[in-house]
Amino acid sequence: MRWYAAGAIELLRDLTPARRKSRYGDIDYDFEHGVDTTWANVSLRTRLRELLSGGQYQPSEPALFQEILNSLPVAVDGFTFIDLGSGKGRTLLMASEYLFRRIIGVELLAELNEVAQQNIARYHSERQKCCAIESHTGDARSFEFPREAVVLYLFNPFPEYVLREVLANLHGSVMAFPREVYVIYHNLMHENVFDEQAWLRPVQRTHQFAIFEAAVRDL
Ligand SMILES: C[S@@+](CC[C@H](N)C(=O)[O-])C[C@H]1O[C@@H](n2cnc3c(N)ncnc32)[C@H](O)[C@@H]1O
Repeated sequence: MRWYAAGAIELLRDLTPARRKSRYGDIDYDFEHGVDTTWANVSLRTRLRELLSGGQYQPSEPALFQEILNSLPVAVDGFTFIDLGSGKGRTLLMASEYLFRRIIGVELLAELNEVAQQNIARYHSERQKCCAIESHTGDARSFEFPREAVVLYLFNPFPEYVLREVLANLHGSVMAFPREVYVIYHNLMHENVFDEQAWLRPVQRTHQFAIFEAAVRDL
């Protein structure tokens, strides 16, 4: 209840002129690539739905995203990039500048995913290296992980109980089909959930993100 009240207050704050202006903060990315990925144009109706689902759209910042991917202890060539809670799909576009085998996004809110799909179609960059990009509407808890080497990206998309369920699904998948899997957790809001995962070995941590490696063979 307290969580919903705090969310409602944030929503009202979002309507103030200063906050509305700040939502366009990183619009340079959109101008450069001909897309719509800031949280500026998210309707009040969508923000209310976000409040009820326990997540809130906010795109990853390009320089930090690059820093995070460059911090992975392996070359990503041939890995599949998955963003659960992919919003308007900015990370899917940014990941396409790396040699991923394919890129998959899953977003709970259909209206955000529709924008993501338009963005994928409109995106232009001379640096694009991967064009196999899919974006789906769905609940991350129902996502079936592909049996491929995976880089999973989570920008604090869910409340704790959802995060736990998603990590349990990934654990089951890695146990059934052992393979290379890295999990990036950006914005360490529920880092305690990762502390519970003995099968995830921390490989990098800053105050903004942490990277874990699935280590099921070692257990
Ligand atoms: C902080 S935004 C991150 C957007 C994007 N990953 C990025 O980094 O630019 C989190 C997103 O997760 C979505 N979300 C929340 N719960 C979800 C769920 N159970 N399944 C899929 N997406 C969810 C929200 O709607 C929101 O768009």
